[in-house]
Amino acid sequence: MKTPIIIANWKLNGHKLLVEKFSKKIKNIEKNFFKENTIILSPPVIYIQKMKEKIKNKKIFFAAQNVDFNNKGAFTGEISSYMINEIGAKYVILGHSERRKNHNEDNLCIAKKFKSVKKNNLIPILCIGETEQEKKDGLTKNILKNQINQIFLKCGLNSFHKTCIAYEPVWAIGTGKNASPILINKIMKFIKKYIIYKSKNKNTKIYLQYGGSVSTKNIKSIIKSKYVNGVLVGSGSLDYKNFFKIIKISYKIKKNLLK
Ligand code: PGA
Repeated sequence: MKTPIIIANWKLNGHKLLVEKFSKKIKNIEKNFFKENTIILSPPVIYIQKMKEKIKNKKIFFAAQNVDFNNKGAFTGEISSYMINEIGAKYVILGHSERRKNHNEDNLCIAKKFKSVKKNNLIPILCIGETEQEKKDGLTKNILKNQINQIFLKCGLNSFHKTCIAYEPVWAIGTGKNASPILINKIMKFIKKYIIYKSKNKNTKIYLQYGGSVSTKNIKSIIKSKYVNGVLVGSGSLDYKNFFKIIKISYKIKKNLLK
């Protein structure tokens, strides 16, 4: 895949002013630029509609950072896939380690969300990854398999076709310590092979993202990895200059314009 997918995960950051500024900057960038990149913005969900209206560019996509697995009902504080679809987002980030840890989301809960996202014609961006201890204990592949298997169980063999999977080692998120390109490539290859094997279909198309301390400094070496289709950027996406630099470098590398 020659078109990099670059996702901005703002997490619980941002405010009206940042939304205004960021949107204005994106609007002023040459439109053609966006044809060659898949850019997905994931600000807190209440800002999505505003940003969408301001940017007015069908080539910029939006993702919610979370969703409830119920479609409607007495679930105070929740937002459904149906609603996310209605406000014009196309993707939903699921299973982020911060949600797994801070909101006790287990693999079953995430699989239920995955199902509801797909049912509502949205595209899941499933985050998977091991903790530092699990890595030390040599459990990385087992952890990833468990995180993937539950989706197959709940959503069927075809679940992953045309979805994004973000490999986000927990120890690399927000720490400034990204995984090495060699490790990233190795794990991506494993994920891809495993999903194809499990789905019993070698035409299963998945888009592999790497996430965890991606910056303007390391993007070049990360995006070069053969199996990496793109990156999920957390803190590095809040500053539009940084974020655009990451997009530009990714694009050039994937198009062989930069060595
Ligand atoms: P980070 O976050 O880039 O700030 O490490 C990535 C993520 O959590 O998606």
